[in-house]
Parts: sequence; structure tokens; C-alpha cells
Amino acid sequence: MLTQDELKTQVGQAALKYVLPGEIVGVGTGSTVNKFIDALASMKDQIRGAVSSSVASTERLKALGIAVFDANEVGELSVYIDGADEIDGHGYMIKGGGAALTREKIVAAQSRSFVCIADESKQVAVLGRFPLPVEVIPMACQRLVRQFAAQGGTATLRLKDGAPLLTDNGQHILDVTGLQITDPLAFESEVNQWPGVVTVGVFAHQRAQVCLLGTASGVKTLTY
Ligand code: 5RP
Repeated sequence: MLTQDELKTQVGQAALKYVLPGEIVGVGTGSTVNKFIDALASMKDQIRGAVSSSVASTERLKALGIAVFDANEVGELSVYIDGADEIDGHGYMIKGGGAALTREKIVAAQSRSFVCIADESKQVAVLGRFPLPVEVIPMACQRLVRQFAAQGGTATLRLKDGAPLLTDNGQHILDVTGLQITDPLAFESEVNQWPGVVTVGVFAHQRAQVCLLGTASGVKTLTY
């Protein structure tokens, strides 16, 4: 029986086959992506580099000798590789457990395809079991808590070391429980319009086209 860590290593390595020699790859954030970054080091001389979705991933990439480009310096990327907190049968995801959702969505939008790497614990029928991360402008927090309550959700300000967590963009995160997101495309569009919301952690408009799912019987390739 493989551990969750070993499943993450397997999918991180499996993602290498989606990296095209000579190109710049979009790189996500999180413990699964860290396995991918470590694997990517083995082909660093074959790629031009990466566009990164967080300070943490940038530091890891650079430490391994992989060049990191600003998103504004490069055009469309062929592939973005990232993890997820949940993924459903359409490739719609909840992301942002690592607080990097805004930059993740930006790099995903800049990429022709999204390859999700995840272990099978992340597979769900309906999004909403994992608390939904929402990056918000600090002055809007309490109003947004009330707005989520009106939708049946309980929003909690994410803390780090006893103080509100600050994202790489200097904003806060609300984690919302109690939601059943049955129409992810409509939900994402609606919440994105609420004043003070920077990014909602539903990735439906930026869904995955492929999921490399780590399972007890090996890596499964799911396409959507
Ligand atoms: C970070 C993310 C991550 O992709 C998500 O939280 C999954 O992380 P992990 O691979 O550590 O389980 O969205 O903002």
C-alpha cells in the first residue's frame, strides 16, 4: 500500500511527459507540485524554464536551477501543471488550500491546457467538501462573511501564527464550509463579481483537461 506522499511522487513524475522540450512550463503550488518540481529538475536542460504561481514554487524552482519567467515576459504557455484540493468528474476543481489561488488561476488562464496532479483522496462527485478558499480584500471580509452566510456557507478568516494570513498578493483568505457547488461555472462567475472578492477558489472556467490521479493500482489518466 503506497502512502499519500508516494502517490504524490508518482503523479509528479508522471506529469513530466506533458512538458515539451524547448518550452516554458506553467507551475502550480503545493506538496504535490513540489514533487513535480523535483522531477522537473531532471529535464531542466531541455526546457527554457517556468512561470510560477507562488513565491514558494519560485524559490524551489530557482534552488534547482530552473529559470523562472515573469508571466508578462512570455506569451501563451502550452501546459500548466498543478494540484487540487478537490476535482470532480468534469475536471472542475477547488483550489487554494495553499493560498496561491489567484496566481494559479492567472497562470492557468495563460496556458492552453491544465494538467491536474492529485491523489485519489481529492476526487469528489460534487465540489464543496473541502472548505472553499476565497482571496479577498481585507476591508471586505465581514461583508463577504455575511454574503456567504446568505448562501448557506460559513466563512472563516484563515489565520497564520494567530494573525490573518497574508497571501503573496497581500490579501486575506476566507475558507467557506457548508457549500454544495452543483453548478461550478455559474457559482464561480457569480462569486467573482462580489465586491471585495479577488479570486474564488472554484476552477471551472479554468478547469483541468487532464488529471493524473495517483491510486493504489498506479497512475490513472483521466481526460475531460
Ligand atoms: C495551492 C493549491 C494546491 O494545488 C492544493 O492546495 C493542493 O495542494 P497539495 O498538493 O499540497 O495537496 O491550490 O493554493
